[in-house]
Amino acid sequence: MEMQALKLKTRELKPGFGAEILDVDLTTAEPETLDQVVQAFHRHGAILLRKQDMTPERILSFISLFGEPEDHTQTQFTLPGYPKIYILSNRVVDGKPIGAHNDGVGWHTDYSYKAEPVMSTMLYAVEVPEEGSDTMLADCCAAYDALTDEEKAKLDGLVLHHSYQHFMATREFLRGELTEQQKLENPDVFHPLIRTHPADGRKALWVSTGTVKGIEGMETEKALALVDELVDFVTQEKFVFRHKWQVGDILMWDNRCTLHTGTLYDDKKYFRQMYRMWVKGDRPY
Ligand SMILES: [Fe+2]
Repeated sequence: MEMQALKLKTRELKPGFGAEILDVDLTTAEPETLDQVVQAFHRHGAILLRKQDMTPERILSFISLFGEPEDHTQTQFTLPGYPKIYILSNRVVDGKPIGAHNDGVGWHTDYSYKAEPVMSTMLYAVEVPEEGSDTMLADCCAAYDALTDEEKAKLDGLVLHHSYQHFMATREFLRGELTEQQKLENPDVFHPLIRTHPADGRKALWVSTGTVKGIEGMETEKALALVDELVDFVTQEKFVFRHKWQVGDILMWDNRCTLHTGTLYDDKKYFRQMYRMWVKGDRPY
């Protein structure tokens, strides 16, 4: 990918990772500025824009700059009239929850149970608790770079077995029998543990939890122990950025080179409402 010199004003989210884009208002930004925002995303693993005034239409047009918006596997919590916008919330309206509650707690990468996992996840903050509900991002490229040559050689070529059925069977708050249709639409998939970023060839230690059922050719117990060890490695504080939300924040991360998790909050005391959008991705290699 051709990289132009960035004219945007940015600040790292943490040393060597992520970019907060400063002084850009998405309601008035020029196409050239938006191009650079997209480039910053591909280069830095995550971008943050604050104080953005986004309608559902504006969100969809912004997200479309990065690729084609992806549908959501669970359709009961999408914003009415906007199937690409998924609501995370603890609000209940007329006796019905308007969004998924406490979804995404536990280190993972989104849609890892698909042959073509989502390239990016975007969250837009509509309503945020005063404390808790942080989003944490782990930089899988920094983690890969920190491995010894010996470790890299040992891990290179390993293939993770991801399973949506396994994931759903282990998620308490989502538990429920999958329909035959959902099972058909979500067959098990296999992805490389070391993933190459298509923008510049950088490598990521692309492990996950939740959907990972094993490692190809390895005994399950041993495989899951290795996966746990690698998740602990990638999510060490030195590789992690912790985002504290304000209303109007847009945080987008690159699922090809990060893991993420939500944190809990006092849901009796506070309300939370976020919009989540996904951008289609490619087959990992
Ligand atoms: Fe997620």
